[in-house]
Amino acid sequence: MTHEEFPTEHPALVTCGLPYANGDLHVGHLRTYVSGDAFSRGLRRLGQDVAFVSGSDMHGTPIAVNAEKEGVSPEEFALRHHEQYEETFPRFNVDFDNYGHTHDETNVELTQAFVRAWEANDHVYEKEIQVAYDPDADQWLPDRYVEGECPYCGEHARGDECDEGCQRHLEPGDIVDPVSTLTGNPAEYREREHKFLRLSEFQEYLEGFINRLEGTSNAQNQPREWIEGELQDLCITRDMDWGIDYPDEEANGADDLVLYVWVDAPVEYVASSKQYSERVGDETYDWEEVWAEGDSEIVHVIGRDIIQHHTVFWPSMLKAADYNEPRAVCATGFVNLNGEAFSTSRNRAIWADEYLAEGFHPDLLRYYLATAAGFERDVNFSWERFQERVNTELADVVGNFVNRALLFAARNFDGTPDAELTDETETRIAAAMDDYEDALNDYDVRSAGETAVALARYGNEYIQNAAPWKLDDDEAAPVIRDCVQLVKAVAVLLQPITPEKAEDAWDQLGAEGRVADATVADCLQAPPETFPEPDGPLFEKIDDERVAELNEKLETRVAEATAGEDDEAANDETDDGTAAFEALADDRIDFGTFQDLDLRVGRIEGADEIEGADDLLRLSVDIGIETRQIVAGLKQLHDVADLPGTKVVVVANLEQAELFGVESDGMVLAAGEEADLLTTHGDAAPGTKIK
Ligand code: MSP
Ligand code: ZN
Repeated sequence: MTHEEFPTEHPALVTCGLPYANGDLHVGHLRTYVSGDAFSRGLRRLGQDVAFVSGSDMHGTPIAVNAEKEGVSPEEFALRHHEQYEETFPRFNVDFDNYGHTHDETNVELTQAFVRAWEANDHVYEKEIQVAYDPDADQWLPDRYVEGECPYCGEHARGDECDEGCQRHLEPGDIVDPVSTLTGNPAEYREREHKFLRLSEFQEYLEGFINRLEGTSNAQNQPREWIEGELQDLCITRDMDWGIDYPDEEANGADDLVLYVWVDAPVEYVASSKQYSERVGDETYDWEEVWAEGDSEIVHVIGRDIIQHHTVFWPSMLKAADYNEPRAVCATGFVNLNGEAFSTSRNRAIWADEYLAEGFHPDLLRYYLATAAGFERDVNFSWERFQERVNTELADVVGNFVNRALLFAARNFDGTPDAELTDETETRIAAAMDDYEDALNDYDVRSAGETAVALARYGNEYIQNAAPWKLDDDEAAPVIRDCVQLVKAVAVLLQPITPEKAEDAWDQLGAEGRVADATVADCLQAPPETFPEPDGPLFEKIDDERVAELNEKLETRVAEATAGEDDEAANDETDDGTAAFEALADDRIDFGTFQDLDLRVGRIEGADEIEGADDLLRLSVDIGIETRQIVAGLKQLHDVADLPGTKVVVVANLEQAELFGVESDGMVLAAGEEADLLTTHGDAAPGTKIK
């Protein structure tokens, strides 16, 4: 089955991969959103009925872990980020028709309805599997709570994906030599019942699907290996509190289980389009037509890291619940910095807020991200390249042409000269319109944008060669008439990528309404008869000094973050999932200084809470010679009742201090953020000196 060309009779839906509500947005994320936004605006220019939706991805282990670190509930934590994203997207002219989140009622209900449909269609079964368990923390270890070795390629991997090696999705129980990320201790495998979606049943379906699928070639090619190999069933439940409850959990024997984050996250595509329909009314946009009736016009825009989820899991999930399959998956390349992946913990990224704070217009970054390289290629972000694209393309070509043409027209003709459009220019514009339509049908946002820049380039040469300033008005009129038409076409064709700047050009041209409501056909509609001189150039150039400053700021920031690993980031995870250690101390101490420390073996005799203190405990510790009262921040990290009897290491000659009004006489040593208590392995008695 081949699909009809856009524009089609059916409503289309463009979605973007949901951002995890887990941190600040950076320009890597923005590549997904700018591409999706530009593509949906492009379709609209073709006259396609389309909705553009996304939402925040609120669940999953990283959010639960980070919320815990901050001491807030996962819901509060995720909602805060969700609200931040909701505000940020419009500032980049990313205009979702609906932006929901996966924890909202619509998504919870729809997700549970999906699972019920799978159960009803007999696509789900229950199986005992080995799940990683941390006996010390007394907790199951789903996904990122565990790491170890990838069973496929042997690289170090997280519980849910082989992020450093073969990039495969990993199922619970896959990881070899599991280690708990909670305590750093080896984890055990314990038997546990979980629910599975029979992906293996969809093998044949998926083989057909992947041949029908449109979009970028990486999304069609990469999954072949998985689809043609042996398909593992998908574990759809997790041992966590944070997530969407398994529907009818008791009847289904799924108490205590929530759905795997990759179950409810893509359902938000459906939920968000449903919310949009409910808002505008289904005569205007009918989500059910999109998802459940006839031809599918669903286009998913994502980054290349989540191709498998969108071309294997998600189509199977849809099929199992009798929903339409996607028409296309478009997967962009990654955005890197100096050839390396962005790293949140090292502050090695260009942040969305930071970009705006520098005072740059959002459309400049949109242009850069949408056209810096082919859609599937990785982009190495650099301020120099950014400057170059802005200066040589947006300013020198587009801005310069628009300004020259409109200024000359307004000064000499008070607007559009009364002349016929020449055949040559008409043919050029018509060809650009065709190219534009073809580019969008090829899901090629970059080429669509290039049609506009090419027209402006043509216009610049035209005006230069014809030199209308040397001609009399009669001779100049057809040249300027052509140029004004070219400006109009440039505004229409560039609108998807630089929507606000295109609107400015439209206004300078004195055109009616908004270019956002124009269609490609408007490229050849007559421009207004009169308009005033333009109020200035559309784009300003970025000078070299500015770029040097930006680079310096970036370097300092990264250096500071790396130095800061000494203290704050010490126990942070790096992006590759390994613990980042504090740098070793530079300064050596002499033996005498060490001997000044009076370290003793102690035994905790009692541990009591301190009123009003969240973390602190009042310990009484036997250090042989006497019993000390020591205040220690162990309350959240240890089972208080288990502490008495534990042998510890005490700094006996530390200055006395008062904490929460309680006197503390000494210190108990512990390792890391989790306060792993230091102890002895033999039978050294309390009071024994440590040397
Ligand atoms: N929550 C999942 C997606 C669920 S979709 C049902 C997720 N979230 S994310 O926050 O990690 O990424 C959001 C989007 O940004 C994804 O499309 C992802 O591919 C993209 N990118 C994240 N970092 C990126 C770069 N450095 N470069 C390009 N795109 C990147 O994945
Ligand atoms: Zn691997």
